[in-house]
Amino acid sequence: MSNESVGGRQSAVTSNPTSVLSPQSSALNTRRVVVGPAAEFPPGTRRIIVPFRGRAGIGVFNVNGAYHALRNLCPHKAGPLCTGRVSGRVVADAPPTAMDTNLDLVRDGEIIRCPWHLWEFDLLTGACLVDPKVRVKTYPVSIESGDVVIYADPADMPEQPPAVGRNGATP
Ligand code: FES
Repeated sequence: MSNESVGGRQSAVTSNPTSVLSPQSSALNTRRVVVGPAAEFPPGTRRIIVPFRGRAGIGVFNVNGAYHALRNLCPHKAGPLCTGRVSGRVVADAPPTAMDTNLDLVRDGEIIRCPWHLWEFDLLTGACLVDPKVRVKTYPVSIESGDVVIYADPADMPEQPPAVGRNGATP
């Protein structure tokens, strides 16, 4: 796993998430993915879980102590949504004028802005702010034995295929 700064907040990209298919997850047709210890995943940080090359992956965010997981695929034009800037929503109690711009930032840390065309999404629900009918896919997250665990759709988080050597043999 490597740490990097994305959108001004600490982020980590995990390329080889630990995966365990439990009886519960297989019964629900989900894949259980251990993201990592909750103690190493403080508020205001994120992890992007990338199953293997060519897949969008899933972004997991600690928003004020609660974990939320979103597909790293913007519903607009398939941009890497979870690499965008996390901030809040700008609101005004009246239309701003050149003389008076009375703007406030609310829900700081709960809104992500897609880096491609700047559509904004609610990290808690996956809903697009300007059109709540447009949503990014979300996944259940739980804390199990101190680890952050997501339950992903296997189509979004497939098992990594076994490595194959040059002659087709597994190393
Ligand atoms: S691809 Fe995300 S806003 Fe366009």
